[in-house]
Amino acid sequence: MSTTEETAPVTARKIGELPGPRGLPILGNALQIDRHRLHAQLEAWTAQHGDAFTFSLLSRRFLVISNPEAVAGVLRDRPEGFRRSSRLEQISREFGFLGLFSANGATWKRQRPMVLAGLDPSHIKAFFPTLIEVTGRFARRWDRAAQSGAAIDLQADLMRYTVDVTAALAFGEDINTIEAGNGQLIQSHLNHILPALFKRVFSPFAAWKYFPSREDKAMPDHLRALHTAVAGFIARTARELQEQPALREQPVNLIQAMMAARDRDGSGITDADVSGNVLTMLLAGEDTTANTLAWLIWLLHKNPRSMRQATEEARSVLGQARCPRSVEEVSRLDFIEACAQEAMRLKPVAPLMVNEALKDCVVAGIEVPAGSLVMCLLRPAGLDAGNFAEPMQFQPERWIKREGAAAHSPASARRVVMPFGAGPRMCPGRYLALTEIKMVMAMLLANFDIASVATADGADPQERIALTMYPVGLEMRLKPLAAA
Ligand code: HEM
Repeated sequence: MSTTEETAPVTARKIGELPGPRGLPILGNALQIDRHRLHAQLEAWTAQHGDAFTFSLLSRRFLVISNPEAVAGVLRDRPEGFRRSSRLEQISREFGFLGLFSANGATWKRQRPMVLAGLDPSHIKAFFPTLIEVTGRFARRWDRAAQSGAAIDLQADLMRYTVDVTAALAFGEDINTIEAGNGQLIQSHLNHILPALFKRVFSPFAAWKYFPSREDKAMPDHLRALHTAVAGFIARTARELQEQPALREQPVNLIQAMMAARDRDGSGITDADVSGNVLTMLLAGEDTTANTLAWLIWLLHKNPRSMRQATEEARSVLGQARCPRSVEEVSRLDFIEACAQEAMRLKPVAPLMVNEALKDCVVAGIEVPAGSLVMCLLRPAGLDAGNFAEPMQFQPERWIKREGAAAHSPASARRVVMPFGAGPRMCPGRYLALTEIKMVMAMLLANFDIASVATADGADPQERIALTMYPVGLEMRLKPLAAA
C-alpha cells in the first residue's frame, strides 16, 4: 500500500468508519443534494462532520477531504496514484472533447508539455499586442454601455472577452465575439456543455439516456455546431502549415504545435487529441476566468476602500492609456493581483475536484482502496480562522508581503489556498488567467466609474455550480469618467 503521507499512521481508519450525513437505503444521499449547490452542501457537511467524511449517490461512495495538506498530497500524487474520474473521461469522450483536462495516463502525459508550452509566459509576452487589441475592443463595448447607461450582463460580457482571448492565443483565430451579435456566439453552444458534463458526472445513473430532458435532446446540436467550428480552425491551420512549413518546427500557437506533432512519426498525437484540446481550451479558459472576474468586480464594489486603492493603482500605472501596454506594466499591478487572490480565496470558481485512486493508499490517515473517489474541497481551509485573521473579510493586503508577518504570511497562505490546484496537473492557464484579470480590471478602473454591481433584488448573488462556480444574475452599470 502506498501513502500520500510521509509516514503511514500506525492504525489507518477505514472509509466505512468515517462520519457522514445519514442517507436512505439504495439512494444514499442523492435526495439531499441540489446539484447546482453541490459545493455548498459539501461545505455544510464539512462544518458538521469534520475535514474527512463520506456520502453516497446510489452505489457510488465519495470520500470528501478538505485538510489542505491532505488535499495537496492527493493532487501531487498524480498521475501515478490518482487520476481524474473515469466518469469524467467517459463523458468527455462521448462529447468528443477528450483533452488535457479529462485525459489520463499516457494520453495526458503526451499532451501536457504541448499545452504548457502554448500557455507559458514567453508566449503570452509575444501575444501581448493581440491582448491589447482585444482589451481595447472590450473597452469600446463598455464605452457604449456607459454612454447609454445600459445594464451589462456581467458574466456573459466577460465570457465574450475570455473566449476571444483564448481563441486568439491558442488557435490564432480572431473570433471577435465581443463585437458579434448574440445569434453568432460560439458561447451560445459552449454554455450548454459544462452544465451537461457536470450533471452527467454527478448523476446517480445515466438518466439522460433513458429519460432525456429538452436540454439532453438539444445536446447533439450544440456539439455539432462546436465540432464544425473546431473543424474550421483545424482546416485553416492545415493551410498555414502547408504554406509555411517552417511553422512545423517553430509553431506560434497550440493548435499548430499539436498538428505538427500529429504529423510526426511516433508522436502518438491523433486527430481526436487535436480537436479535443481545441474544445478543452475554449471550455477551460472561458468560465473560470470570466467567473473569477465577475466575483472580483462584485467584491470590490462591496469594499469601497479596496476599490479606491485598486483604482488609484490602475490610474497611476496606465496614465493616459486605456489598458496596460506591456507585460511589465501588468506586473506593476500588485494590489489588483492581491485583490484577485483574495477573490479566489472567498469565491474559488473550482471549489471541488474529484480524483480516483489508481491503487490502494492512505490519505489523511484513512485507508483508500484502489478505485475510490476522493473529492477535494478547496474552500474550507481558506475560510478557517486558524489560517486567516477575519477570514470572511475581503482584505487583499493579506496577499502583499510585509516584513515580520510570519503567521499569516502570503507564503503560508499560498499553501492553504489553491485556486489553480496543485502538483503535476496544476492549471497550465494560470499565468494567462491572471494576465487577463489584471488587463480587464485595469481597463475597467482606469476608464470608468462603476455606478452599480448588483442582482435584480439587490441581495448578494447566489453561488451556483456547473463544473465552475458562478454568481447568479449580476448586472453592472458604468458611468463615463467625465460624468463623475
Ligand atoms: C481564474 C482562472 C482559472 C482558474 C481558477 C482555473 C482553475 C483550474 C483548476 C483548479 C484546475 C485543476 C488543477 C488540478 O487538477 O490540480 C485547472 C486545470 C486546467 N486549466 Fe485552469 N483555471 C483557470 C484558467 C484557465 C485558463 C485561462 C486556461 C486555458 C486557456 C486553463 C486551462 C486549464 C487546463 C487545460 C487544465 C487541465 C490541466 C491538466 O489536467 O493537466 N485554465 N484549472
